[in-house]
Amino acid sequence: PSLEKDFLPVYYGWFLSKKSSEHLRKTGQAFLDELGNLKAFKKESKYFLPDEDPKIKLDLTGHFAKRPPGVLHCTTKFTDFGKALGADEYAQQEVVKASYGKAFTLTISALFLTTKTVGARLELSEQELLLWPGDVDKILPIDNLPKGSRAHITLGCANGIEPVQTGIDLLEFVKLEKAGNKV
Ligand code: A2P
Repeated sequence: PSLEKDFLPVYYGWFLSKKSSEHLRKTGQAFLDELGNLKAFKKESKYFLPDEDPKIKLDLTGHFAKRPPGVLHCTTKFTDFGKALGADEYAQQEVVKASYGKAFTLTISALFLTTKTVGARLELSEQELLLWPGDVDKILPIDNLPKGSRAHITLGCANGIEPVQTGIDLLEFVKLEKAGNKV
């Protein structure tokens, strides 16, 4: 047994190129700026900043003050050094081992936000879906959502919110979509 076998990373994922990461950060900022200026969005402002003067621009950038350090990424499997459920099963897959250091093209299908998080939703290709874990697309054990439903890139979190929340928020949107609600 090699030493390597005993160590798993905190998480596996796709990491954007420096250029794409900077571009997506800027796009995310522009998204928040535009929303903050939008009249139709102002009526939501009480959920973000309760005492906000409705005449002043809503400072969403300030609201999502916790931004990921370094290069942006999409987590595939959070393994927590091997402690997370399903960590070994994920890491031992041939397709995972064969994909270390390989390059992929990620497709963003939407930008989304809740009061807690802002993120980019991804549409995974068939090849990318092979690397997607089978156990992460649900909030409740009974949830039955398409594979890859959770795929996202966290762009920011509100104070006191951990980045794991972004995937949960996206799953809530997918559940609403599935129920036929307009998101
Ligand atoms: P996300 O992928 O939504 O951005 P941390 O910095 O807390 O160690 O987390 C590292 C990455 O793993 C983050 O990008 C984070 O969220 C993701 N992550 C953290 N905890 C979990 C979890 N329990 N389940 C799934 N992903 C997680």
